[in-house]
Amino acid sequence: MSRRDMLAVIKLGGSAITIKDEIFTPNTRVIENIAEQLLETWRDGWTLILVHGGGSYGHPIAKKYRVMEGYKSPRSMLGYLETRMAMLKLNELLARTFVSKGLPVVPLHTACISVAESGLILNFYYTSIETALRNNFIPLLEGDVVLDAERGFSIVSGDQVVYWLARKFKPKKVIFGIDVKGIYNRDPKKHKDAVLLKRISIEELRRVSLGKAYGIDVTGGIQSKMEYIIKIVEGGIPVYVGSLLDPRVLVQMVRGEEGQYTIIWPAPRRE
Ligand code: ADP
Ligand code: IPE
Repeated sequence: MSRRDMLAVIKLGGSAITIKDEIFTPNTRVIENIAEQLLETWRDGWTLILVHGGGSYGHPIAKKYRVMEGYKSPRSMLGYLETRMAMLKLNELLARTFVSKGLPVVPLHTACISVAESGLILNFYYTSIETALRNNFIPLLEGDVVLDAERGFSIVSGDQVVYWLARKFKPKKVIFGIDVKGIYNRDPKKHKDAVLLKRISIEELRRVSLGKAYGIDVTGGIQSKMEYIIKIVEGGIPVYVGSLLDPRVLVQMVRGEEGQYTIIWPAPRRE
């Protein structure tokens, strides 16, 4: 198999890589474990593109300054900058951990390689990502504040970035790492009897009952994630959703090994 046949786009959810209700607090144990699991898959020969979320770095600052609403006043520009700096801080922490474990990541900040219009990506400068991949780097992007042709600036979630990457690069699989085992029939944090759905179609996914995101979430939480998952699967790419709090599930999802996680499988094509 060529390296492109073994391309995985992986979202590292803010709910898992940070402590969501403690501002600027990384989940160090989880981040180190993710690095170790990624290294295993890299050694297997997988090509990786990573995107991380904001968690307790991006979301509280964006909310404080209402950055999602775009330019309102000079103070909102300060909010743009503060949110960018918060995301840079988390990005640097991840990059340093990954590099220290032997993963050749290259931070390609979403803010620098995209422009949005009313919160939706309008242009994406893929050449940086392609060139990084060609040189055997692992691109590391993030959910970010980006310049916006309509609003001045806006917030683009990591999930939206993942959707764009999936459309462009047609990976073998897309993986969303979160803080619960996968997609349940209803919110597992609210309902003890919620059942993990291991292998489902888009139709079954549409019937799932979704709870609200926990902590502060300015990008629409699980509701918005679902919409992007559906679009990716409709494009023919299987989506895996699993826990980054588990020490092995990320490796299992990349390899396609049996485990406790969800796969949303595209419908077989009718010719
Ligand atoms: P992240 O920010 O890490 O990308 P989100 O916070 O957007 O992830 O989504 C994960 C959260 O969605 C989980 O903490 C979970 O409690 C919540 N959630 C609500 N309903 C469901 C459901 N039916 N299945 C799985 N998770 C759900
Ligand atoms: C949010 O990205 C980025 C900012 C708040 C600037 P995400 O929406 O992908 O973050 P998580 O994964 O939900 O924390």
